[in-house]
Amino acid sequence: MKVKKAVIPAAGYGTRMLPITKAQPKEMVPVVHKPVIQYVVEEAYYSGIRDILIITGKGKRAIEDHFDRSDLPKKDKYTEDLDKILDEVNIFFVRQREQKGLGDAVKYAEAFVDDEPFALLLGDTITFPSCAKELIQVYNKYKTSVVAVEEVPIEKVSLYGIVKCREVEESVYLIDDLVEKPSIDEAPSNLAILGRYILTPEIFECIKETKPRKGGEIQLTDGMRILNTRERMYAYLFKGKRYDIGNKLDWLKANIELALDDVEVGEGIRELIRSIEV
Ligand code: G1P
Repeated sequence: MKVKKAVIPAAGYGTRMLPITKAQPKEMVPVVHKPVIQYVVEEAYYSGIRDILIITGKGKRAIEDHFDRSDLPKKDKYTEDLDKILDEVNIFFVRQREQKGLGDAVKYAEAFVDDEPFALLLGDTITFPSCAKELIQVYNKYKTSVVAVEEVPIEKVSLYGIVKCREVEESVYLIDDLVEKPSIDEAPSNLAILGRYILTPEIFECIKETKPRKGGEIQLTDGMRILNTRERMYAYLFKGKRYDIGNKLDWLKANIELALDDVEVGEGIRELIRSIEV
């Protein structure tokens, strides 16, 4: 079965981005010309997906407004580019009722996904080139769940889901186990889940069986751990760039690096960088 649907969780508070996120969702924070979540929707679109569910929550209405067709009297190139995509995709919204973790948020996608494999793209993460597209290629070969990982410095493992796995071909690993935010001592590797997944619909049953952690949050990684006992699961080592926009340094880096390649502002930014003495 082909991957035809994408789910984008965008319900988290964005506390690491305060006060920028005091009155706007972190997914609406701008990176060069566009809010973060537009990059994510475009990644799904350019991976061939046309049905997208965005999981929002309290204080996230600006996201829905952003994906309305624009009715500005004079349009600019960027809104026209977005309108073209919006003509071709169906975007659905559902609100997570309480902030009970990523696993709980994903549960809201069950009716939308039904019995198909789907792409899960975290709404505050940008990847270049499109990680979802590469993951779909891996899925098409192995026909089971696959999660994108990247190597992180060992002192950062406690910020991520970490996989224990063995290589089966270049950049593809069979997963033995997964652990959410381990301490350095507990971490089975430094391969961190980066926010792009292809999951089979069996994940929903597994999330329902997942016990909440301290604070009542249900972690997706814990659900995937159950799924891994029932069917094979692979990790794919992504070699492109990944920016976590829920983190100020990554957000600033994304702005600078993406601006450098931009036709409108690239030259000016290059000049600025050349002129800065640090
Ligand atoms: C979530 C996941 C974690 C993953 C991370 C990627 O954590 O729970 O497994 O590695 O996203 O950004 P969060 O960043 O929401 O704390």
